[in-house]
This record gives sequence, structure tokens and C-alpha cells, in this order.
Amino acid sequence: MNNKINIKNKTILVTGAAGFIGANLIMKLLSEESPIRIIGMDNLNDYYDVSIKKYRLEKIENMAISHPKSKWIFIKGSIADKAMVDCIFNDYKPSIVVNLAAQAGVRYSITDPDVYIESNLIGFYNILEACRHSYDGGRNGVEHLVYASSSSVYGTNKKIPYSIDDKVDNPVSLYAATKKSNELMAHAYAKLYNIPSTGLRFFTVYGPAGRPDMAYFGFTNKLCNNETIEIFNYGNCKRDFTYIEDIVEGVKLVMQEAPGKRNGEDGLPIPPYAIYNIGNSQPENLLEFVDILQQELIRAKVLPDDYDFEAHKKLVPMQPGDVPVTYADTKALEDTFGFKPSTPLREGLRKFAEWYKEFYI
Ligand SMILES: NC(=O)c1ccc[n+]([C@@H]2O[C@H](COP(=O)([O-])OP(=O)(O)OC[C@H]3O[C@@H](n4cnc5c(N)ncnc54)[C@H](O)[C@@H]3O)[C@@H](O)[C@H]2O)c1
Repeated sequence: MNNKINIKNKTILVTGAAGFIGANLIMKLLSEESPIRIIGMDNLNDYYDVSIKKYRLEKIENMAISHPKSKWIFIKGSIADKAMVDCIFNDYKPSIVVNLAAQAGVRYSITDPDVYIESNLIGFYNILEACRHSYDGGRNGVEHLVYASSSSVYGTNKKIPYSIDDKVDNPVSLYAATKKSNELMAHAYAKLYNIPSTGLRFFTVYGPAGRPDMAYFGFTNKLCNNETIEIFNYGNCKRDFTYIEDIVEGVKLVMQEAPGKRNGEDGLPIPPYAIYNIGNSQPENLLEFVDILQQELIRAKVLPDDYDFEAHKKLVPMQPGDVPVTYADTKALEDTFGFKPSTPLREGLRKFAEWYKEFYI
């Protein structure tokens, strides 16, 4: 049985607050759940253009100004800094923690592995420890820890759609291995310290002010600069693209229902632990995806009507760490929360193209 949590008047810590998903989640919470107190933490690293992170923080700031009953506090710092994480937990005593801070990206984990260990493993460990000590002295502590996992934990799973019941012991990138490790660490802490936690396996999230390191954004930059885009695995890739608004709606619903605490026959806690997929469940072939993107970029006047798309497209082999398909089975999410992402790809890419035009052109 899940425990319902009323998030109004609660203190919520969101790490990765200047990130794509974090910033959109915070804006949704501020706009829909006033009064609420949100503590945002982010180290504002330069893995991608920091101006987009600052732009997102500005939008949050404006949203907070128009919801004066709520409190928004931003702290620049790393979750890998244990003293700082402990200090934030001691000072603000969050009831709900949403850990989205991480080093993302599959390919970057091949060239720059250190930062994955630092942010995704040490950082996540610090969050778990802080949650554990939030109950010290009989305090209520953290009611729910929600954290980002990833569809990449499925590796090259042959069975589709990917279900949370599938065995995911064969990661094909260090990034995926860190995300799977997060799930294992959260399970151990749920069992040992009764910390209710939910891991969310996100499937290729896209949308306005998204991540410039992701294919749809990188393709757009290249097409605008008259460069050639490389389509991996000769276009024989399928991705379950999930629109940002669907993701944040899902996270918001999940935050409000923590896995219930109960003891087993041995008198010890049965881990209050859950995992869900959040994906569109409609994998799109990469070539079709690129075709829709191009049409929407022309419609939004990011590219001219007569853009010679064929001249800017190159089909190349599969890259290390990549997987041919991602496809979410969202039955568990639907059964528990009555929710399933539903934004059609064209609609989502249209909003991205319109934002891109406004931001860059
Ligand atoms: N976007 C996707 O398609 C996708 C898919 C699967 C999983 N995820 C996961 O969801 C989460 C959010 O992803 P996103 O797309 O918003 O990425 P993002 O890179 O835009 O956001 C992550 C934020 O965390 C911050 N950060 C990184 N390391 C940090 C640290 N040590 N301490 C504090 N802040 C730190 C970054 O500065 C960034 O602003 C990540 O954990 C990511 O791995 C994302």
C-alpha cells in the first residue's frame, strides 16, 4: 500500500534544479501547489551551455515572484559535497527529496568517466546518507525520496517493451551502470533504514529549453549551421521520445505517493521501494523522427522553406554504448497512478522548434 502525501506546505528539495527536468518540475510545483517551499540545488556545471541553465533559473525566479505565498531558495553546490548536503538537510529538513542531479549522457561517460562516479555514485550516496540521518532523534525526516534512473539500464534488452520486471544486469555504458547502481543503493537503504524511495526510469526526454547534448537539439544546431548530421545505426534506431510536460506530470504524481512502510514476518522492514518507467510507449524510428523535426523546424522558420535536407544527412554505424531500441512498458505507472505520457512527437517537436526560434534566432 502506498502512502499519500499532501505536498502543500511541505519542503521539497530538488537537486539538479537548473537542469532540464528539474527546472520544469519546479515551475510546475510553484504554479500548481502554492504554498510550498522548494529548495533547489545545482552545481551549474558546464557539461553543456550554462546560459540555458541560467535561463531556466530565471524562469523559475519569475514563477516564484508570481506565487509569493511559496518559497523558492536556490543553492549552488554539488551533491558530491557531503558537508554541504548535510548542511542543507539540517537547515531545511526537506520532507520530499527529488534527486535529479547527475552527470547525464551515454557517450560522455566513455570519455569522462570520473564525473559519473563523483556525481552519480558519491553524490547519490550522500543523498541517501542524509535521508537516513533525517530520522535521527525520532524526527519525521524524509517521507519520500524520488530519484532519476534511466531507460539505459535496459542495455540491449531483447524483449520489448521494456518492463520493470525485466532483469537489468547488463548495462552497456558506465552511465547506465551508475543508474542501475542507484537503484541497488536505494533498495539497500530502503531495507536498512526504511527510507521510502521511488526510482524513475526516464525515456529520452525532449522539449523546449532541453539539453543541447541530446540528438534532437544537436541536429537542430548542426542543420542551422549548415553542417551534416550523423544518423547512427544507419537510421535503424528506435527511441521512445517522451515530452517534458508528461515527465514532470509523472514525477509530480509519483512524489505524492510513497511506497508504504511495513514489516515482514521477521519483524524487519520490507523495503518501501518502487521503480517505474516513464516513457511514451510509442518508439519512433530515427529517420521518421528526423523527418518530423525538419518539417517542424521549417514551419517555425528556424530553417528556410527550401532547405536541402538530404544534403545534410549522413547515415553512420552504431556507436559504442548506444542501444538500437528503447520502448517503455508503462503498465505499472498506469495501474498505480492512472497516468501515461501521451504527447504526440510532432506536437512536442513543434513546441521545441518554436522555442528554439525564440531563443536563438
Ligand atoms: N533527459 C533525459 O532524456 C533523461 C533520460 C533518462 C534519465 N535522465 C536523468 O534525469 C535526471 C535529470 O536529467 P536532465 O535531462 O534534466 O539533465 P540535466 O543535465 O539538464 O540536469 C541535471 C542537472 O544536474 C546538475 N548537476 C550535475 N551534477 C551535479 C552535482 N554533482 N551536484 C549538483 N548538481 C549537479 C547539472 O548542472 C544539471 O543542471 C538526470 O539524473 C538524468 O540522468 C534524463
